[in-house]
This record gives sequence, C-alpha cells and structure tokens, in this order.
Amino acid sequence: MTHQIRLISPDEARVRREALAELFIDAVEGGAQINFIHPMTREKADRWWDKVLPGHAAGERLILVAEQEGRIDGTVQVVFAGPENQPHRADVAKMLVHSRARRKGLGARLLKAAEEAARAAGRTLLILDTVEGREGHRLYERGGWTMFGIVPGYSLEVDGVTRTPVSFFYKSLS
Ligand SMILES: CC(C)(COP(=O)(O)OP(=O)(O)OC[C@H]1O[C@@H](n2cnc3c(N)ncnc32)[C@H](O)[C@@H]1OP(=O)(O)O)[C@@H](O)C(=O)NCCC(=O)NCCS
Repeated sequence: MTHQIRLISPDEARVRREALAELFIDAVEGGAQINFIHPMTREKADRWWDKVLPGHAAGERLILVAEQEGRIDGTVQVVFAGPENQPHRADVAKMLVHSRARRKGLGARLLKAAEEAARAAGRTLLILDTVEGREGHRLYERGGWTMFGIVPGYSLEVDGVTRTPVSFFYKSLS
C-alpha cells in the first residue's frame, strides 16, 4: 500500500498534533536541523505547534501529510508570504519524513505535492532553505529547485554549538 498525500484541515491538524509532534522529535533526535537543538522534548514540539496552528486556521499556511494505514509518516508546509506586494510567493517549510519511511521516494512526492498545493493557491514563486549538502539539499536539487546562495554559519547544529552553512533555493512554477 502506498502513502496517501493530502492537505489536512485545521481541525484535523489539532487532532493529529501528537503524530505531527512525533515527526519533529524523530527528525531532531536523528540530527536534522529544523530550528531545534538537543535535547528535543515533546514540550518544545507541542509549543511550536501551539504557535502555528492558529495561523493554519487563519489560512496563513497549508499543511500536507503523507499517511499510510492511519499513520502519518511525513509532512510539509506551504507558508504564504504576508506582504501585500508578494501575493504570488510562499515558503516551503518543515519538510519531514519519519526515519522509518525514508529513501523510498516519499520526500520527492511530498515536495511535488507541496508545489501543486502552492500553485492551486495561486503561489507560483517558492523559497526554502536547508543545511548545505544534506538530504534536504539533494532532494531540492533533484526536484528542479535553483540554489541562489549559501550563508556560512547561518544556524546551529542540534548540538547547540557548531554553526553550519545553509543554502537558499527558489522555484518558479509559472
Ligand atoms: C530530507 C527528507 C525529507 C527526504 O525524505 P525521503 O523520503 O528520504 O526522500 P526521498 O526518498 O525522495 O529521497 C531520499 C534519497 O532516497 C533515494 N531514493 C528514493 N527512492 C528510492 C528507492 N525506492 N530506493 C532507494 N533509494 C531511493 C533518493 O535518490 C535520495 O537519495 P540521495 O539522498 O542519496 O540523493 C528526509 O531525509 C528527512 O525528513 N530528513 C530530516 C529532516 C530534514 O532534514 N528535512 C529537510 C529540512 S529543509
């Protein structure tokens, strides 16, 4: 059985918050840089979702999930740019596939689905950033995204000490 990738509603995101938080914990414990450092805790993940879900309900972002037999194995978000002169722009963020489901093409499918959802919402210029050279970087290159720069020492590794370079990508859908 293959994963179903779909948008989730604000009500469902609230109900499934535990599974979404679990994806964060799995990623950070595995060393992924998604704006957290060790120790990763359920409280930190919950706090992040508590902050974001009202914005989701207000239509500021889309949340997609990849689900199989009721289990959420991946997620990605499309965050609409706020300024009134950027109605065509969005950021792709929090692209995560649980470690139990990686390297089977799910990340690539989630990325494609995020692009399609953005386009359907009228957002045709997408931006994202990721740690240079890691799985995410390769995923976006394979997906036809264009890297437009690397900022040395942009963020901290999960150890909270080591600074790492972050690469910035864009994709124009029009
Ligand atoms: C980045 C991430 C989302 C990729 O998810 P994924 O589902 O593993 O992605 P894919 O399966 O599409 O591609 C991953 C690799 O598997 C390979 N692959 C895809 N299908 C495959 C298959 N059927 N058999 C073997 N390998 C396969 C891809 O070629 C790719 O190889 P590469 O990384 O050596 O270039 C995932 O690694 C992740 O969640 N990482 C932690 C969080 C993170 O870093 N997110 C990005 C933040 S911006």
